[in-house]
Amino acid sequence: VTAEKAGYDHFMLKEIHEQPKAYRDTMGSRLDPSGKKVVLNEVGMTPQQIKAIRHVHIVACGTAYHAGLVGKSVIEKLARIPVETDVASEYRYRAPIITPETLVIVVSQSGETADTLAALREAKRCGARVLAITNVVGSSVAREADDVITTWAGPEIAVASTKAYTSQLIAFYLLGLYLAQTLGSQDDAYIAEVIAELKELPEKVERILAQSEAIKNVAEQIATHDNLFFIGRGLDYAVALEGSLKLKEISYIHSEAYAAGELKHGTLALIEEGIPVIALATQEDLFEKTVSNIKEVTARGAHVFGIHSEGHYELAKAVDEVFAIPATLPLLTPALSVVPLQLLSYYASLARGNDVDKPRNLAKSVTVE
Ligand code: AGP
Repeated sequence: VTAEKAGYDHFMLKEIHEQPKAYRDTMGSRLDPSGKKVVLNEVGMTPQQIKAIRHVHIVACGTAYHAGLVGKSVIEKLARIPVETDVASEYRYRAPIITPETLVIVVSQSGETADTLAALREAKRCGARVLAITNVVGSSVAREADDVITTWAGPEIAVASTKAYTSQLIAFYLLGLYLAQTLGSQDDAYIAEVIAELKELPEKVERILAQSEAIKNVAEQIATHDNLFFIGRGLDYAVALEGSLKLKEISYIHSEAYAAGELKHGTLALIEEGIPVIALATQEDLFEKTVSNIKEVTARGAHVFGIHSEGHYELAKAVDEVFAIPATLPLLTPALSVVPLQLLSYYASLARGNDVDKPRNLAKSVTVE
């Protein structure tokens, strides 16, 4: 078993460290050598079919749903098509408006999640085209979808998903760019810029991983608490949701992720002396507003651990501890900012003596509805 873990203590830690490779493999030959366009031969839609898409529904569960929340922003920004993201177990029961002009994207690491599969079948029954993003070639989801973008993350063993999530983000960036270049919704220079920044992500993840010790120190403080909050705005909120799920899943510490601006509408009542708050402030245009929200919690005694992009050192003045992720385009920050949160969960679980790879009550693939 140690050999399978390649010298790491747990599969989760191994999989966190495999992310640079997973990014490279998922981008792989899908980036044209010219650096100017994305090649997605696996998407069989003709340019006419792509131009006919009026709305996109992204459907998934758990961590894959959180990737779908980022996917919504990515597709809306790049392709300028309206997108809704739904939890698969809810989707069918809200009588969603699905037409032949709807592209339904199902996201599933395993490709065997019953709720996601049921949503896929409902979408097809209503005449939508279904595109799957999955990590398992030949899985049920892969077999039943019209188009499949495989994430080349390699087998994921730990119940807590890490490299599958970040590879799903890469798949959304590629798909968003592909739609944009087909629709002409972005100019060529911007597409080339995003591609150039994508290529730099693996090396930037390596730089974050090299600072694991700093995250471990924070995790050990957090492990002594029973409640905490994650806050962020925009894409930082989507990542906050994923960070909170990861922490709950393996450390059993209760946490809530909140859109930072929403705290004052009720949740602020729960902020008390010493409560840890993990604040993400990587979105340049939302930075000042997020800092105001951070001040709302520090004024009430919260102990804030802030995550920002290199260059925004002003955050250090507003929080107790900071961690800087390498700078990238705002749209791409989730592929970096989630990494310290994965490490935080891992080390908090370890500090609590939990079974990191096999948390209680959970299964790797949920095949019941
Ligand atoms: C992730 O850490 C979880 N174990 C869980 O939320 C998972 O993402 C969810 O069950 C969906 O699984 P899938 O991607 O295989 O469909």
